[in-house]
Formats: sequence, structure tokens, C-alpha cells
Amino acid sequence: MDRISKLCSYLPKCNTFADVACDHGYIAEYMLKNGLCKSAVVSDISEKCLKKAETLLEKYISAGECRAVCCDGLKLIDRETDCIMIAGIGGEEIIKILNEGFIPNAFIFQPMKNANSLREYLLKNDCFIETDDIFSDGKKYYFIIKGKKGKAQKYTEEQLLYGKDSLKNRVFYDYLKEELVKKKNYLLSEMTDESRISLTQQIKKMEEVIKGETDGSI
Ligand SMILES: C[S@@+](CC[C@H](N)C(=O)[O-])C[C@H]1O[C@@H](n2cnc3c(N)ncnc32)[C@H](O)[C@@H]1O
Repeated sequence: MDRISKLCSYLPKCNTFADVACDHGYIAEYMLKNGLCKSAVVSDISEKCLKKAETLLEKYISAGECRAVCCDGLKLIDRETDCIMIAGIGGEEIIKILNEGFIPNAFIFQPMKNANSLREYLLKNDCFIETDDIFSDGKKYYFIIKGKKGKAQKYTEEQLLYGKDSLKNRVFYDYLKEELVKKKNYLLSEMTDESRISLTQQIKKMEEVIKGETDGSI
């Protein structure tokens, strides 16, 4: 399944929806086309990117069911919006957007990297994480974090690193084994002693998690 279709499969039915950092606008189109929301807002920091969404969603914009806004993060997004998706940008960038804006009532995030930092941030900021998984489109792997404002759960170190549902998902172990090979190859290259120690620790942790799959301790 391609990345956008997989992302759409996590979308809930709601009244108001916002696709922040929308670029093409496919996600809001899916919501509107399938009657999953009554109204949608698409936003992007780049006018050029937002234009793509405006073209795609023209009929919904004309009908007053969709609004396009050019802004950085959540700056022009109503904090009462039922559900907000932010996909395809880095975890640190998502954290910055939330820090400068607000924690959405319900959210779906698909960070391209640093998913662990985002998890940590969400748990520290009273978010209940419903789904914390990984999927593949056959080429790459993506972490997906779906949740809402609420009481944060306690995570183990492994759950914080990789996601509580990922650890029960076979796809995750395929990902981890590929990452392990990459890291071991990287270890052969020139690097400072400090980087080598950090990388060796990461490799050790990854091997422990992989072992946990086989002996059932994770
Ligand atoms: C790779 S695209 C992802 C598009 C879509 N969300 C997806 O998952 O396919 C990244 C988009 O994020 C936008 N973007 C990056 N930083 C942003 C920010 N701080 N606020 C709003 N949009 C941002 C970029 O302009 C670009 O259109």
C-alpha cells in the first residue's frame, strides 16, 4: 500500500479536520471525498505548495467545505479543530510546531525522522497515544503516531525508542534488521571516538531488541 493510502486508513470521522504541511492536499481530499469530515483546512508554509492543494481541492473550496491557509505550523489553525494531521516532515519540526502552537484535540503524526523525540514530547505534554506503529510502502518505513489530549501512558525505554505497537509488529523487525546493517557498515567508516561509542551503544540496543523478538521478552 502506498504511504498516502496507509496514512488515510488512520483517519477518523470528525466534524473539522486540518492537514498541516499539506503540500498536494491528498489527505484532505480523502477526508472530504469520503465524507469523513464536514469541513477541512489545508495549510502549508509555502505558497507554491499550498497552490497544489488549492487546485486539487477547488470544488470543495468553492462549496465552502474547505479553506486553504498559508502559515507556519498551527499559527492560523483553530485550536478547536477536531483532528489535525501533520505528515511528511521531521519529528523535531513537528515538536517546534506544537511548541509554538498547541496540542491538538486529536492528532495523527507521521514524522520522517526523530519519532522517538516526538513520542517523548507527547508523553511529557499529557497526550494519550492510541496507536504508535510502523508501516512500509515496500520501499521505506514510516512511524505513525495517533493520539489525543489525555492522560499519558508510561513507556518503557524500547517503546519510547520505537513505538509501543511497532514492537509487536513484524514489519518493525524487518526495519530494525535493515537499520542494524546500515549502522554496522557506518561503523567501518571514519568517525570520532565519541561517535563510535554512541553508535556502538545504539547497535547493542538494537541487537537486544531484535533478540527480544525471538525470545518473546518484548
Ligand atoms: C514532504 S511534504 C509532505 C506533504 C504531506 N503532508 C505528505 O505527508 O505527503 C512537506 C511539506 O511540509 C511543508 N512544511 C514544512 N515545514 C512547515 C511548517 N513549519 N509549517 C507548515 N508547513 C510546513 C512544506 O512546505 C512541504 O509542502
